Amino acid sequence: MQQTQRRSRELESIAPFRRSPDVPERCDADVTGTVPSWLQGDLLRTCPAVFAQGSWQAQHWFDGLGQIYAFRIGASTVRFQSRLLDSEAAREIAGGRAKLSSFGTPTERTAWQRLLQPVQRSTDNTNVNIVQMGDEVVALTEGARQLRIDAASLRSLGVRPYGPDGLGGNVMSAHPHRDFARRKVVNLATSFGAGGGVVSVYEHDDRTHVRRVVGSWRTDRVPYLHSFGLTPTRAVLLAHPFAVRPRDMLWSNRGYIDHFEWRPQDGTRLIVMDRGSGATTEHEADAMFVFHTVNAFERDGETVLDALAYPDATIMEDLRVARMAERLPDLRPKLVRITMRPGRPRADVQMLGDAAFEFPCIHYRRSSGSDYRYTWGAADGPRDDDGYASSIVKVDVRSGQSCAFSDGERIYGEPVFVARPGGVDEDDGVLLTVGCSQRTTGSALSILDARDMTLLARADVPASIPLGFHGSFIGEREQGGRP
Ligand SMILES: [Fe+2]
Repeated sequence: MQQTQRRSRELESIAPFRRSPDVPERCDADVTGTVPSWLQGDLLRTCPAVFAQGSWQAQHWFDGLGQIYAFRIGASTVRFQSRLLDSEAAREIAGGRAKLSSFGTPTERTAWQRLLQPVQRSTDNTNVNIVQMGDEVVALTEGARQLRIDAASLRSLGVRPYGPDGLGGNVMSAHPHRDFARRKVVNLATSFGAGGGVVSVYEHDDRTHVRRVVGSWRTDRVPYLHSFGLTPTRAVLLAHPFAVRPRDMLWSNRGYIDHFEWRPQDGTRLIVMDRGSGATTEHEADAMFVFHTVNAFERDGETVLDALAYPDATIMEDLRVARMAERLPDLRPKLVRITMRPGRPRADVQMLGDAAFEFPCIHYRRSSGSDYRYTWGAADGPRDDDGYASSIVKVDVRSGQSCAFSDGERIYGEPVFVARPGGVDEDDGVLLTVGCSQRTTGSALSILDARDMTLLARADVPASIPLGFHGSFIGEREQGGRP
């Protein structure tokens, strides 16, 4: 235990996981270069930030208590603001209790509490993503609760209510899709029962909180589903063989993911759900492990899913705090295209070039669900000389060609694509990406030209911003980012 605690505190001293105190009042960033005049709005992001507090220590990266931060891009300034997430999980831990569910850290419940509540109560440590839904800004994790956030102060406004719709206690993905044509949010909810699990695709209007189940897929071994694909008429689930038997989670104090088992002999199942009828068809492929789908589309009756695939699930172990304190993780899965053809049980899997990266983005408003050309992402991983490499990559998925930006100093996370208003080309816009310096306690928002990956401007702040996962640009004008 003491060893883990030392590792948790150690991680907080290592770039890119260092954290500076909150900056609740907006401060000016030091801007160099030229911010495009059309780019005005807020980049809102969330990240795991606190890995040790009192006797509590996070044992997995995903369990760090969340921080929300904003780069607010105005006509002549870029301002920065950050605040630790005000959540029940954070309050419990501050009070010396850690009874809510976690991703990979044991909870502290007595035998009596476990007996009374066999299934752990969901965490609200929404440190994975932050998106706009209608007029609301919502922070997400992989749990039953999402938190509404006041975009101006970054304070929590409480849990976003849903239902009653029967999906209340379920795990929701932190990667909802947006169906712009129908003004719907589409997402996954997974329920676990003694006999197995049910993965439901649901949708709701932008501004309402009533979820409608589109269709459900039942399985006795539930895969870890971090994201999914969406086309105009189909949802695509990538059911890799990193899965759990739901009954193994009952009465348990272990972290959620600690119940999952890698069974490569089971292969990968691909479930294509018709969004009209809810009917599913299934295809199979060799074992792989995927956090992030990139895009999905339909082509001549086929269903195509692009995803970032690891050969197995060891990455999940590499993201444990003790492991990361010794060796920063290699976040460079390969970009693969999975093609599913009607009547053929076997899916075709092909590499799209040799680019390897995580945290993908596309010109979401234009390309989501359709045959597209470009994706961007962050390629972070150890170098042979003991250093850590980080770059932002651009991939032409049609040719497999790629190019990259790196400044040799900062460890960058997810790029967010923002389309230039009136732009014609798919890559006509900028990428917003936040990097934590490996040399100083500073961080920066870098603004790249998404066409040629050159640096247009950088907004430096004297604060260490931990590497996190996802966020959104909420613009004054047109935007192209994924929700
Ligand atoms: Fe993610």
